[in-house]
Amino acid sequence: MIHQLTFTYEEWPDDSSLTENDRQLLQEARNVTELAYAPYSNFWVGAAARLRSGAIVTGTNQENASYPVGTCAERVLLGHAAVRFPNDPIETIAISYHPKDRSSHVPLYPCGMCRQALLEHEGRFEHPMRLILSGMEGAVHLVQGAASLLPLAFTGRGLRS
Ligand code: THU
Repeated sequence: MIHQLTFTYEEWPDDSSLTENDRQLLQEARNVTELAYAPYSNFWVGAAARLRSGAIVTGTNQENASYPVGTCAERVLLGHAAVRFPNDPIETIAISYHPKDRSSHVPLYPCGMCRQALLEHEGRFEHPMRLILSGMEGAVHLVQGAASLLPLAFTGRGLRS
C-alpha cells in the first residue's frame, strides 16, 4: 500500500494581503531580528507570537562559542512564552530573518528541531498554531499548524505506560 501526504500553504507576494493583526505580528518578528545574538553565523532570526489572550512574546536566536549550544529564535520564544504565560497557547507565530547587513525576501521555514518543539507546544495545549513565514520583505507564506511541517512526527506516544 502506498500512502501519500500533502502539504498546503498559502503564499502572498508581500504582507499587504495579511490582516492588520498578522501584519503587525510579522512586523514585530522583523523588528526583533535586531535583538539576535548571532556573531558566529551572522544570520539574525526573529520570532513573534500572539497568544490566545492577545499577549505578544518574542524570541531571537542566541548563539554560543560552543556552536551546538546556540538556540534558535523559535525555541527561545517557546521558553519565553512558557515562563511568562504558562497557560496561554500560541495562536499565531511569525518568523523572519536577515543575514547581517543584508535584507531577505525568501520565507524562512523552522529547522527540524524547532518543528519538533513547536509540535510539542501544539500537542500540550491541543491548539493548532498558525505560522507566518517571511523575510524582511517580499513573499509571505501562511501555514495552518505546526503539525503539517512534521508529518509522521514522534509525539511521545508509547513513552507513557
Ligand atoms: N536559526 C533560527 O533561529 N531559526 C531557524 O528556524 C533556523 C536557524 C538560527 C540558528 C543559528 O543561530 C542561525 O540561525 C544559523 O543557523
